[in-house]
Amino acid sequence: MVPVTDDRLLVGLDTSDDAAVYQIDDSRAIVQTLDFFTPIVDDPYTFGAIAAANSLSDVYAMGGVPLTAMNIVCFPNCLEPWVLTEILRGGADKMKEAECLLVGGHTVEDDEPKYGLSVLGMVHPDKVWKNSSAKPGDVLVLTKPLGAGILNTALKGGIVTPQDEEYTHVTECMGHLNKYAAEKLMDFTVHAVTDITGFGLLGHAFEMAEGSFCTLEIAANRVPVIKKAKEYAQMGLVPAGAYANRKYAGDAVYAEGVSDTTMDLLYDPQTSGGLLISMPQDDALRFIDAMKEETFPAVQIGQVTEKQTDFIKVQGEI
Ligand code: CO
Ligand code: CO
Repeated sequence: MVPVTDDRLLVGLDTSDDAAVYQIDDSRAIVQTLDFFTPIVDDPYTFGAIAAANSLSDVYAMGGVPLTAMNIVCFPNCLEPWVLTEILRGGADKMKEAECLLVGGHTVEDDEPKYGLSVLGMVHPDKVWKNSSAKPGDVLVLTKPLGAGILNTALKGGIVTPQDEEYTHVTECMGHLNKYAAEKLMDFTVHAVTDITGFGLLGHAFEMAEGSFCTLEIAANRVPVIKKAKEYAQMGLVPAGAYANRKYAGDAVYAEGVSDTTMDLLYDPQTSGGLLISMPQDDALRFIDAMKEETFPAVQIGQVTEKQTDFIKVQGEI
């Protein structure tokens, strides 16, 4: 795509950020984003809720508050209409939880169902959380465990069923709004934020490192993962996306001696993953403390240094 430049466009296409930010006046900017995908779980309500949480996440990742959203729906004629009703109900409940108004949408017929949202949010122009402004001396904090892609692969293969504990864990994780972490984060000094989605932790970390021209050091032993994700990764239940992410970011990653299982988890593509935050140590400690009663507590997983040979350095094992 041809880059668009305009003084009012605070965040555009050029830094692979989560959403576009457009300044209206001195105190207001709009955040605009869109995301939709095919079902990752069989239960239509759960799928709708996860897809909506994922779409809303990009607004939270910019420091914004979602205001309105529109449904994007692709649906085949051969499926029963109640399936679509349930998908939309899941999405609507999530929007209600986010205090975001559903104001419209569009449906087209397609061979495979797809669902997501286009979301409009608001942010103060001076308080936009870019993904490209990490600073040496910062620490890195992650607000959800990794492993959703691996669990979804195990689910597709029938190795995990909806009766399993890890199914509950992964669907709760994917459906959990980043709202709670973002709201708490607003009390602290924050230098850079992104949400972890398709490119996995290391893919998104690479974009942050490259955009900030810093090195991100990841302490793998501190990185939280979803129940049994490591076991399934060891069994080779690794989605194709993890290999694509390794190809995308691998040249910028130094991970001498780190096991394939750990790297597979770090490259695992996430659906509606947590926030990766670069912030001063003092603020991080207080933020982590403020998050300790949450369903998914925040965890310090590394630090930011001046640019070294490689953009990313991984040490230790998950
Ligand atoms: Co994002
Ligand atoms: Co996105």
